[in-house]
Amino acid sequence: MVKVIPKTTKILERLAAKNVAVYRTLSLYYRRLVKNEVALANIQATDKVLCIGGGPCPFSGILLHEYTGAHVTIIDNDDCCVCIARELIKKVGYTDSIDVLHSDGNNFSPKDYSVIHMAVQVSPMEKVFCHLKQGCRYGAKILVRLPKKTLSNLYSINDLSVFQSCCGKAVHSWRNVDSTALFIKS
Ligand SMILES: C[S@@+](CC[C@H](N)C(=O)[O-])C[C@H]1O[C@@H](n2cnc3c(N)ncnc32)[C@H](O)[C@@H]1O
Repeated sequence: MVKVIPKTTKILERLAAKNVAVYRTLSLYYRRLVKNEVALANIQATDKVLCIGGGPCPFSGILLHEYTGAHVTIIDNDDCCVCIARELIKKVGYTDSIDVLHSDGNNFSPKDYSVIHMAVQVSPMEKVFCHLKQGCRYGAKILVRLPKKTLSNLYSINDLSVFQSCCGKAVHSWRNVDSTALFIKS
């Protein structure tokens, strides 16, 4: 049962990366969500954004760039996702503004980034979050997407209480993502 949603998301995203109509339809799901996150963290064109877990169709990374003008680096630990996402970034003409790298959030150094964004499917969520929080620079903002409590057993989150000490939250309605929590390294 665990990972049903992350697996289904990947399948849909593979379709979206190859088909404009599917891309446009699925991106509707992310638009309001990402707009709220940009406002929550007050992301500016001068920020350097790191997205953990872009998937084959990195909607969030693309929208974060489109809404702010910031340079975005997307990482994913699945080689196949990285190849498909790179092709898509080329197709939409963002190769100068968006990089896609094969790496795991648990090993990647976040020290060069002012904003870090974590997808709800990141696994293991608590471990990757602690690694990034420890390694990022002072003042860096970390945005963590959290699932609805009733769905958390379908993701790789064991202990939602780790995320209770956030300094701000954007709550999302009608989505599997309950909210995005904002942390600022101090
Ligand atoms: C399917 S995507 C969904 C994100 C969505 N495309 C977006 O733009 O918000 C989630 C991705 O997170 C990746 N992932 C999960 N845990 C990860 C980790 N520890 N490090 C890097 N990528 C990870 C998975 O391989 C998957 O492709």
